[in-house]
Amino acid sequence: MTTVKQNLARSAGLADSDTARLDTEILLGHILGRPRTWLYTWPEYELSEAEQVEFDALFERRNNGEPVAHLTGTREFWSLPLKVDPSTLIPRPETELLVETALELCPQETLRALDLGTGTGAIALALASEKPGWRIVAAEKSAEAVALAEENRRALKLDKVQILRSDWFAQIPPQQFDLILSNPPYIDAADPHLEEGDVRFEPRLALVAAREGLADIEWIAQKSIEYLRPAGWLIVEHGWQQAEAVREIFAAAGLNSIESRKDYSGWERLTIGRK
Ligand SMILES: C[S@@+](CC[C@H](N)C(=O)[O-])C[C@H]1O[C@@H](n2cnc3c(N)ncnc32)[C@H](O)[C@@H]1O
Repeated sequence: MTTVKQNLARSAGLADSDTARLDTEILLGHILGRPRTWLYTWPEYELSEAEQVEFDALFERRNNGEPVAHLTGTREFWSLPLKVDPSTLIPRPETELLVETALELCPQETLRALDLGTGTGAIALALASEKPGWRIVAAEKSAEAVALAEENRRALKLDKVQILRSDWFAQIPPQQFDLILSNPPYIDAADPHLEEGDVRFEPRLALVAAREGLADIEWIAQKSIEYLRPAGWLIVEHGWQQAEAVREIFAAAGLNSIESRKDYSGWERLTIGRK
């Protein structure tokens, strides 16, 4: 029989992770159905044979590079527990800046918003949890991701979010939104980072865009003009080296009040513009 403490000590042997100890704690807590703090209260707890077999399997998969969120099936975003799977991006903490910016630019209690490329539903569901009066359309191209977002929406009982399958604006009937948001794919296909870490297990559809990663942002900016009401906002997340190019794209699309915002590390990671 092996104890919690002995299993945690195995983190030292976990390859390919700079968060080895944390990863091991999360996986062990997941198998035992306990919060991480419990592991330190009960270090001498002996795992049953079934628990040990399950933990060994997850530990091995983590050792082969699979993201922790895929192994546990969940990731927290904006304090919401979201189900995740390999059909779309695992929500990233930096995307919370997009949610914060939307709430700052749009303080009103009623509004119509569109989240393009919703993935797990992270952005749309975070906004709906803050603003029960907002009506939010969340569009996504991948059928599997649409099902995942719908599952998250139901679990969180956020009825004002409508999730639909659409290739960007293609299946969205003409209408006027006060706010359009997107964290679209923006990585260049030749970027070597695609071969490192968690992104190796995420779909290219969620990550990669043509023309040095800018093609989808350009399409979204151009079409947004048709779908924004006058003075409505567009907010787009992008790579840390893309801010200047995105500002140019926004200007060429006819948007005003264009500005890029920095994340907590000081990188310009999103750009806003107004019709
Ligand atoms: C970077 S991920 C963002 C997911 C989620 N919004 C988030 O922030 O965690 C981009 C998402 O856009 C979706 N996507 C890619 N191309 C699309 C298209 N043409 N139309 C709609 N969604 C698309 C992908 O499937 C993926 O879910």
